[in-house]
Amino acid sequence: QKLEMELESIEKGGYEHFMLKEIFEQPRSILDSMRGRMVAESDHLMMAGIREFENKFANASRIIIVACGTSWHAGLVAEYLIEDLARIPVEVEYASEFRYRNPIISERDIVIAISQSGETADTLAALELAKSKGATIFGICNVVGSSIARATDAGAYTHAGPEIGVASTKAFTAQVTVLTLIAMIIGSKRGTLETTKLRELMVELETIPAKVEEALKLNEQIIGISEQYKDATNFLYLGRGYNFPVALEGALKLKEISYIHAEGYPAAEMKHGPIALIDEQMPVVVIATKDSSYEKIVSNVQEVKARKGKVIAVVTEGDTTIPAMADHVIEIPETSEHLMPLLSVIPLQLLSYHIAVMRGCNVDQPRNLAKSVTVE
Ligand code: G6P
Repeated sequence: QKLEMELESIEKGGYEHFMLKEIFEQPRSILDSMRGRMVAESDHLMMAGIREFENKFANASRIIIVACGTSWHAGLVAEYLIEDLARIPVEVEYASEFRYRNPIISERDIVIAISQSGETADTLAALELAKSKGATIFGICNVVGSSIARATDAGAYTHAGPEIGVASTKAFTAQVTVLTLIAMIIGSKRGTLETTKLRELMVELETIPAKVEEALKLNEQIIGISEQYKDATNFLYLGRGYNFPVALEGALKLKEISYIHAEGYPAAEMKHGPIALIDEQMPVVVIATKDSSYEKIVSNVQEVKARKGKVIAVVTEGDTTIPAMADHVIEIPETSEHLMPLLSVIPLQLLSYHIAVMRGCNVDQPRNLAKSVTVE
């Protein structure tokens, strides 16, 4: 027993929980997910798994992404990326719905299955169904040799290293990184992404690990914010554009490990329902970085403040407009909006972690949840 405990504490590398260790590993795991695939200086952008299928990707009539949970959120980020950079229509499907819906699938479709474990039953069944209809199946998995990895025609591993905490953190950022590379590769092949823009994105992507390192320095500040909101019964997360999936992911992290009810919403949809819930008891996490929807989200923050909600805003360093309205301001480094989810998710992971710890929850093994869901 004692030996077992000692082993576990060695595995946690000095961190109190696997989840915290995995959050702090992200500068490294993001780098590992691009290693060998991209070097901006030499214009190198290549993914072995995709090479053989590059033409297929470039000529695909549609890309369908199937996944569950956090991997589904990574899929949503990919929808924005692929549609914007490669101009191919993308649909993101819950694997469990897709498989039972008699979906329309053709041989010119590419199905991307995203799964950390590579063992999720619904995702596996969804890709088998698509395969039987003749689609090309591409897998993005973290666990090497897993069932989903073996069932696909081609794929790319995320190389994030083993993820032990049930709430997914570093696997998510690795998935998003790999999907960004894929969007860039297809976009450049199709000519929808200009060379100068591609180069800019490559250079910027290389700076992300260092910027994640910067964002992790927010840990102390976030402990302070967590203290103030740990007893809340509800949380709302709002984001627009690339930060909309991040709002969903932030809410999922909080409910998974702290058991606080949380909902993620596209900020503009707030007026079609959730705004009715806002009062002085309601913490609202708004991801409002400087991007093409910034002006719009400023108005959303005003709407929340007009109803006395407590605004915890994630903003780009140096912003002055939102800090003048928000109750708490979390500043993250500037980057291209295409890459922002890789940074904006970091403070949300930390917030959920600290709130869960303060509430005495079992962070690494939350009740009723499993790391990989191998049954329906
Ligand atoms: C479970 C895990 C989540 C994960 C989801 C999908 O619910 O607790 O963290 O996002 O399954 O898992 P996958 O391994 O397919 O990414």
